[in-house]
Order: sequence, then structure tokens, then C-alpha cells
Amino acid sequence: MTLATETDSAKRTRQSKGGPAKGRTALERFGKIDMPDLTYTKAIARATAPLYEKVRHHIPEIEWPVHAPYVYWINKLKKERGAVILAHNYQTPEIFHCVADISGDSLQLAREATLVDEEVIVQCGVHFMAETSKLLNPEKTVLIPDMKAGCSLSESITGADVRLLREAHPGVPIVTYVNTSAEVKAETDICCTSSNAVRVVESFDSDTVFCIPDEYLAQNVARQTNKKILTWKGHCEVHERFTAEELLEYKKADPAIQIIAHPECHPSVVAVADYAGSTSGMIEYATNQKPGSKVLLVTECSMASNIEEQAKGVEFIKPCNLCPHMKRITLPKILESLVYMKEEVTIDPALAKRARRAVERMVNLKPN
Ligand code: 13P
Ligand code: SF4
Repeated sequence: MTLATETDSAKRTRQSKGGPAKGRTALERFGKIDMPDLTYTKAIARATAPLYEKVRHHIPEIEWPVHAPYVYWINKLKKERGAVILAHNYQTPEIFHCVADISGDSLQLAREATLVDEEVIVQCGVHFMAETSKLLNPEKTVLIPDMKAGCSLSESITGADVRLLREAHPGVPIVTYVNTSAEVKAETDICCTSSNAVRVVESFDSDTVFCIPDEYLAQNVARQTNKKILTWKGHCEVHERFTAEELLEYKKADPAIQIIAHPECHPSVVAVADYAGSTSGMIEYATNQKPGSKVLLVTECSMASNIEEQAKGVEFIKPCNLCPHMKRITLPKILESLVYMKEEVTIDPALAKRARRAVERMVNLKPN
């Protein structure tokens, strides 16, 4: 295979400054390289051995030769391409521990996206996350390994829906969850994530505020503010599956068990939880707040696998709900992204300008 030299890579970076040239694909801008040979060699086994230690509890030794060549070449090619890999907390352990440069919840990824020096961002997460990175980094090339990695919340609402809400409720501020398309963000006043939703809602003087499109997040926010919260009927297809009855069964079997839930769950689920917060809030609670030896993590189940090592002494019970969209991102697709510079996330500049305002207002909101 032909691998670009450092100098070639630096040259490409210089050439691409100023953002995507009109009509040229990312591959044309960054240049072609060949797909590497994916044989599991002794050199690859040696180079990836320390990374295997991080995932050995989740990947049987016999399967490592399948993953290792991808891990090796992704780590090599991301340097050659001048790329940074951002991974959401729900990515699988081999992505989270072996190839990600930065991991976090939606807000952390949005913030980190503004701080990276690399010219290329490979977003291992769902489409709205890649769009958010592009909004905050219009000059950078943002790739997502599978363009079909969507989100049921994001798909529940369109820009036209938001315009109708505004017409029907003039003057009511509209807060949109970051799990929405750029088209929806462009119609709204400010974004929020699960970690800052209450603070964002309270940043308005108005007594009534829209918090859309997640009905359950909005109801969970409403319990923590005196404002009247209006919402939409969007749901996360993963978190809506959890029920308070099933969680109480676990608690009945072992009263010492701690329940940690994501606020996209139904309010009756959050009501029986000992803690509710964003994915990173849940990680912080499980690893630093010493919640006890058994924790029921009520969220996408890859997350428990990702943090088992850092949460020493905690046994995670994981009712296994997987997000089919997050799971579209795989090592082979990440490698293809780097080799073929696909799939590039682009946003109409006029729309991006309006959507960016909503994201930046959130990112710049002062902590309480
Ligand atoms: P976080 O912002 O908490 O990471 O949540 C994103 C998400 O999609 C949860 O389902
Ligand atoms: Fe969307 Fe739910 Fe998947 Fe998060 S877990 S990306 S909210 S479908």
C-alpha cells in the first residue's frame, strides 16, 4: 500500500485550509491512499497488545485478530490524514478504548470539537452529533463512518414543525435538545443537552418555555423548574423501553442496588432512580460518587462495558438496550472513512449560520 509521508500529510492540510473547495470531494482534496492489508501479523499483534488489555473483558482473545488490524491501521491512518476521532460514550469498547482520541457525552463532544487542531474530524456517534461538530467547525472536514446513523428523537421533528409551534405560540422561547437536525436547530433559540437542560430553560425570563422534541426529557426538566414547560411527542427508542416496574423488580431482589438513569427515560423511571443525568454525569456518579457495589445502569448498554475498568469495585447490571443507530459505527467503517474520506457531512451555509447560533448560545452559556 502507499502511505502518505508526514510531508504529504502536512501539505494536504495546508492545501485544504479554508474549508472544502466547491465541487471537490474530500477524497479529491486530501488525496487517495490504498486500503491497507488487514492481515494479523506479528508486528500488529505486538503493537496492539496494550490496547487489547483495555478490552480483554469484552472481546475474547480468539476474536482479537479480527479487530487488531483495524485498530492498528485506524490509529496509523488517522495521523496520516490529520484526523481526530471523537466517540460518544455509547460506542462499542473497541472503538471507545482502542481508536477514540476524545470520548464524552453530547455536550462534551460539542465543546471538544471546537478545541481540536486537526483538520479532519471523524465522528463516531450519530448524525446529529457530526452535524453539531460541523456547525462549530465550518472550516473543517467532518466525516461520519455511516451516514445512516440517525436518532429517533432527531427524526421526530422537522424545521417546518418548529415554525408552526412558533406561529401558534408567539414569544415563547424554544429550547431544542441537541438530538435534532441542523434544520431544526436553525429554527430555535438555543440548544440544550441532557446535562444542561434545566440551566438553559432557566436562562429565559419567560414563564413558559418550549423544550423539544423529547417529551420525557421535558417532563423531567419540568420537575426541576417553576417554569411551565411545553413540549413535543418525540421519544428515544432506546430509553422509552425501560419501565419503573422492571427497575423495581431489581430493587426488590436486591434493595442495595443503585439505579442510575438517563433523563430521556420516562419520568416514572427517573422517579425510582437514585441519580439521573447525562451519559457523562452517569459515568461520574458511578465512578467517583461510590454509589455502592451494584449499579443498574439504565441506558444504552455499551456504556457500562466502557466504564467497567474505571469504576473499580462496581458491578454493573445492564438491562441490554442497544441503540441501533450508534451500533452502525464499526471499526471497518471507520477505516473506510479514513481511507476514502467518507462520508462527508455538509450543511448549507445559510442554514448552518442560523443553526450555529443556537449551538453557540448553549456552549457559551455561563455555568450557574
Ligand atoms: P448524552 O448527551 O447524555 O450523551 O446523550 C446523548 C444521547 O443520545 C443519549 O441517548
Ligand atoms: Fe437517539 Fe436514543 Fe440512540 Fe441516543 S440512544 S442516539 S437518543 S435513539
